[in-house]
Amino acid sequence: MKALKIFSPATVANVSCGFDVLGFCLDAIGDEMVIRTTEKKGIHLTKIEGCELPFEADKNVAGVSALALIEDADPDFGFEIEIYKKIKPGSGIGSSSASAAGSVFAINELLGKPYSKTELTRFAMKGEVLASQSEHADNVAPAIFGGFTLVKSVNPLEVLQLPTPKDLYAVIIHPQIEIKTAEARAILPKDIRLKDAITQWSNVGSLVHALHTNNYNLLSKSLTDVIVEPHRSKLIPHFEKVRETALLHGALGCGISGSGPSIFSLCHGKEVAQQVAMQIKYVYSTTGIPFEIYTSEINTKGIKII
Ligand code: HSE
Repeated sequence: MKALKIFSPATVANVSCGFDVLGFCLDAIGDEMVIRTTEKKGIHLTKIEGCELPFEADKNVAGVSALALIEDADPDFGFEIEIYKKIKPGSGIGSSSASAAGSVFAINELLGKPYSKTELTRFAMKGEVLASQSEHADNVAPAIFGGFTLVKSVNPLEVLQLPTPKDLYAVIIHPQIEIKTAEARAILPKDIRLKDAITQWSNVGSLVHALHTNNYNLLSKSLTDVIVEPHRSKLIPHFEKVRETALLHGALGCGISGSGPSIFSLCHGKEVAQQVAMQIKYVYSTTGIPFEIYTSEINTKGIKII
């Protein structure tokens, strides 16, 4: 019997302008999972701690992605999965992706790494479909690849790994309310104005250029979302106040993490990030809404064996 313990990180999808295509990986928060081989074929969830999730493999995101992998690999043994959940479902920092990506990453290691990161992302996306009824890879890709990723296309799946500027830090505030991704997608308009599309794709292009050239000023100017955020920000209490505070205290940009309610800020340097975190904490403490706050490096490795 072989076993592995992994850290499966939280991720920030969209990164303001890149709805469903951009994402980055966090270091300060993530789930832990133990995966071991077992004689009994199939996928068996044996322990889930931290929140209530189904134990049936075909109803659990970690199970569904693992089933997709073993259907392809067809090993003559099975796998047991233990999940120690630290990322709350409906938090907007890739809770389901951490489970979906973690199980396939670990099984691939135990099988001797037959699959590429792109193939693992494809299996993990099956779990995302179960969780949100939509096939997006902007959380699972950064969890598997690390750093910043751009999902060039979903079908066929093509993921580009982007460079991470050295001194970039993220601050995440997670107001303790739950927003279901499917619901946050349902409120979005089906059509957008050409004028907004032009602004948005200009921002995606310049954000990618900023990452390649370590241009923090350009990065800051690119972190704007004129398409999704105006609709979703209404679901997040005190979003505008948090953004104002983050920008006032030096954040490069501030936006909704994934489908919310978490809000991310990107900062140049640890001191700025700590200052932004302190000020946001101070502001949110007055709202009466419980919250968690994290300051994190950008995790350029993705899922790690621990
Ligand atoms: N891109 C997805 C969305 C991420 O914003 O709906 C969900 O976490």
